Order: sequence, then C-alpha cells, then structure tokens
Amino acid sequence: MENQAHFLMCAPHFFGVEYVINPWMQGKEGSVGRREAEDQWHALHHLFSDALGARVFLVPAQPGLPDMVFTANAGLTHQGICVPARFRHSQRQGEELPYRTWFEAQGLTLRDLPEGICFEGAGDALFDEGAAQSPRPLLWAAHGFRTDLASHAFLSDFFGVEVVSLGLIDPRYYHLDTCFCPLPNGFLLWNPMAFDEESRETVERRVWPERRFAVSEADARQFACNAVGLIAAGGRPGVVLNVASDTLVKALESWGFAVYQTPLGEFMKAGGSAKCLTLRLSER
Ligand code: ARG
Repeated sequence: MENQAHFLMCAPHFFGVEYVINPWMQGKEGSVGRREAEDQWHALHHLFSDALGARVFLVPAQPGLPDMVFTANAGLTHQGICVPARFRHSQRQGEELPYRTWFEAQGLTLRDLPEGICFEGAGDALFDEGAAQSPRPLLWAAHGFRTDLASHAFLSDFFGVEVVSLGLIDPRYYHLDTCFCPLPNGFLLWNPMAFDEESRETVERRVWPERRFAVSEADARQFACNAVGLIAAGGRPGVVLNVASDTLVKALESWGFAVYQTPLGEFMKAGGSAKCLTLRLSER
C-alpha cells in the first residue's frame, strides 16, 4: 500500500514497574495488572494495524527488560539510517543490544554516537512533518533529563537535517514525546510549561500560533502530548492517544484530525503511553 506508515512495537510479556527512573514510577512498583496491560497493548496494536492500516513490526520481548515495551526509545530512524539509543540509566542499557540486532536485521545503516553520549531515540527526537517547503527536514530534539545536548550535532550530521534543541525542565516530562507532538501538516500539540523559557520562545517563533495547541495541565498529566499522528490508510489524518478532554478533541477535529482514544493506564504507571509504545520507522 502506498504511503503506509510503519511502526515498531514490543509485546508487554515482561512489562512491569520494577524500578524507579521517572516520577510516574514512584510507588507503582509491582502494581501493573498483567492481563490489563496485555489487553491495552493489544487494543493499541489492533488500532494501528487494522483500523488505521499501518504496518506494525514486532521486536521480540526480552525477560528482565520491563521497559523494552517502550520502543520509541530504541533509536531514531530516517531514510534508511538508524541512530541506536544509548540509555541514561543502567536499568535500560540491556535493551540496546536486542534493539540494535533488530535494526541491523532490517538492513538499516547504523550510525553510532560516541560512547558516553546519551540519546534515548524518538523519545527525545521528533521530526517535524510540516516543513515540506523548507530545504532540509527539521528535527526537534530535547536535552535535560535523558538525552545529552552533545548528541544533537551528531544527529544533524548523521541525518543531514536541521536540529532545533529544546531544554526540558520538569522531571514529569522527562522525554520530549511526553510534552511535544508534531503532527502531519505542520500542526503541534505541546505543553509549554515543560520547557525552559528560551525553548518556549523558539517553538513560538517557529510554529505559527494557529498551528500549535497548548494542552491544559489536566490533559498534559494524562499524557495527551504522548500522541501519534499519522495519515490513515484512507488518507485522513488521525491522532492516537490515551485520553483527551473534549476541548482537545475539538481542537484536533478543527484541524481535520480523527481522534482515537485508547486507554493505556497500565503503561502510564511506568511513565509512558501511546507514543512511547510505538517507534515510527522510516518507510522506504
Ligand atoms: N519507564 C520508562 C523510562 O522511564 C518509560 C519510557 C517512556 N518512553 C517514552 N518515549 N517517553 O524510561
């Protein structure tokens, strides 16, 4: 099928909250319902692969790596090139090898960051989808919690793209994809409070006011910005997320998006939702 979106997911067989590396995980250890998590994950998978006509690839889940289900952090791919992740926390570093093996088996060209520079993949680096008229693709990349600012120049070089660096300041929004969501046709959902002042101004300067929507505090806390935008099989733009207020649904619909809400509460206990559970792969 032409322009079919490709995603990577990882089944939640070994998912759980077994350690604390972000504020959402605090007090949630051992609280994940296995059945509920499986059901929520399958509903998400079904939505992408059946309802929206996307192609979903699966990387085999590994015992002892409970966060591997969050494939967004595996790396970043674009036009056949992949920069694999270098995780900040030792608890997730064991994911690097299985992800890398999967990317290599797909025939992607791997470009490695120098050792010691942390980068948590598409969790912290998101391509803008509205820059069709600009000479170079635009990559929004974050630093502050998981990803080092030093990685950004390498990303620009490896992918041949312009990188705009954004500083995160709120530990609850520790990855870019928890507070910033570029959508097809140049639209943007974001939580301005998650960014330092300079970064906020950068976003406001680069994205027209009528193309960006600042979500409410309540929507932000439900991970409304942890959304996946895509062009569905029928050609209609859609947004997939955990849950959205009526105000947010109306705003998205006024931009022409169909809104798909699919509950992901078990994954919220680990600090992740729709976007974290899916890695957009470069379509070739
Ligand atoms: N527990 C995981 C972590 O803290 C959640 C990762 C969420 N992924 C994301 N792309 N925001 O690393």
